[in-house]
Amino acid sequence: MKVYIETFGCQMNENDSERILYLLENAGYERTNDIAASDLIILNTCTVRERAKNRLYGHIGNLKKLKNKNRDILICIGGCTAQDLKEKIIEVFPYVDIVFGTHNIPELPELIGRRRLTNKSICSVENNGFDHDLFKVRRKQSFKAFLPITIGCDNYCSYCIVPLVRGNERSIEAEKIIRNIEELVSGGLIEVTLLGQNVNSYGKNLKKTYTFSELLEKVSNIKGLKRIRFITSHPRDFSKSLIDIIKNRDNIVKHIHLPLQAGSNKILKEMNRNYTREDYFNIIENIKKKILDCAITTDIIVGFPGEEREDFLQTIDMVKKIRFNRAFTFIYSPRTGTKAAKMEDHITLDEKKKWFRELLEIQNIISSEENKKLVGKKFEVLVEGNSAKDGILLKGRMENNTIVNFEGDSSLIGKIIPVIITGAKTFYVMGELIRNNS
Ligand code: 5AD
Ligand code: SF4
Repeated sequence: MKVYIETFGCQMNENDSERILYLLENAGYERTNDIAASDLIILNTCTVRERAKNRLYGHIGNLKKLKNKNRDILICIGGCTAQDLKEKIIEVFPYVDIVFGTHNIPELPELIGRRRLTNKSICSVENNGFDHDLFKVRRKQSFKAFLPITIGCDNYCSYCIVPLVRGNERSIEAEKIIRNIEELVSGGLIEVTLLGQNVNSYGKNLKKTYTFSELLEKVSNIKGLKRIRFITSHPRDFSKSLIDIIKNRDNIVKHIHLPLQAGSNKILKEMNRNYTREDYFNIIENIKKKILDCAITTDIIVGFPGEEREDFLQTIDMVKKIRFNRAFTFIYSPRTGTKAAKMEDHITLDEKKKWFRELLEIQNIISSEENKKLVGKKFEVLVEGNSAKDGILLKGRMENNTIVNFEGDSSLIGKIIPVIITGAKTFYVMGELIRNNS
C-alpha cells in the first residue's frame, strides 16, 4: 500500500506530516511521490496564510479525476484548514473520505481502517486529549530535525487562527526533549530546530519548569550537536538572558526570527501583540550590541483593519532602521472566528496591495544589500541537498540561515563544509567550496 502526502504551511505541519508517515509506515504503508500510483492521498493543510481555503478547494477538486478512475483510493484532508472547516469539506466534496484535525493524527490508522469497512466519509476533529507522541516521526534526513517543544498558543493575536485550531499552549517536558535529541545525535543529527508558536514562553504548563533560556542551555550541552535553531520568538517574552546564551554558546546559531507584524503602536495594540515599537527597537538594539553579525528575520502584516497610510509608514520606518536580513510579508486576510475579522476595515485591497509592493521593494533591496556584505567571506555551511532552482548545484545553509548555492558532489549532503561567498542575490548567495581549507 502506498501513501502520497503533501504538506502546506509551516514547520509544525512538516513535523505533523513526519508523524503521520511514521504511523502509516508502521501500519504497512510505503511513501510514494507518484500520486497516481497511491492508495492513500493525504493533504496536510494550512490556514494561516492567504486564500488557503480557495487553494485547498482547488487541490481537492483536482483529485476528483483520480477518485473517478480508482474508487479504492482514499482521500484524507488533515491540518489546520481541516480543523477549521470540519464537515464542510465533506459537504462540498463528498468524495473526500476522511477529514482529521490537528489533534487527531494518532487516530489516523484507525480512521483509515474504519473507512475501508464502511461506506461513509469520516470527520474526526474533536480534541480528545490524546497525549500523542510528538517525537515518533519518519524523517527524510537524519542530519537535520525539527522538534516541537510547545504546541498550540495562548496569545490570541487578534488576526490569528492558530490558537483556535491548535488549541492552548502545551510544553513538552525538558527531559523528554533532551533524551530525544541525544538519541537523534547518536543517529547522526547535526542540526536541530526547536519549534513552537512562541518558544519564549516555554514551560508555563509544566510542573517542573525550565525557562526557554534554561532549556536552550541544556540542549546546547548535548555533545556532538553542532547547530541549534529555534522558531518562533515573541518580542513580548524575549529575555535578555536569552541573548546572553545565544552569544555564549557556539552551537546556538546567530539567527533570530522575531515577528514584528506592524510598526505602529496603534496597530500593535489592535493586534494584541503586547509590545510597542519602542520595546521592539530595544530588543534589536540589545541583540546587535551583544551578538556580532546576528541575522534577524521577521514577519510583517500589511493592511490590518484600521491601518492608515501613516501607520504603514511607521512599519516602513522600522524596516529601514532595523534592516532585517529577510522579512516574510503578508497582506492581512480575515480568519473567521478571530477578533480582527469583526473589525472595521475601510482600506481597499488594491490599496493594500500597493503598500505591500512598496514594502517588498524596500525589503528586497535591504536583503540583497545585506547578502552582498557576505561576498568574499568564508562560512561554514551545512549542505542540505540539491538546490531547488537548479538540481545540479548543492544547497546549504549558513549559521545565520542564509541559503548558499554552490557546485559540489552530492556526497557532501549532511556535512558541514567551508564555503567562500562569490555572489549575492535577494534571497540567497552563491558560493564556492573551499577544498583542503586552502
Ligand atoms: N493575515 C495575514 N497574515 C497572517 N499571519 C498570521 N495570520 C494572518 C492573517 N490573518 C502571518 C503572521 C505570522 C505568519 C506566520 O503569518 O505574520 O507571523
Ligand atoms: Fe498566532 Fe500570535 Fe500565537 Fe503567533 S503568537 S501563533 S501570531 S496567536
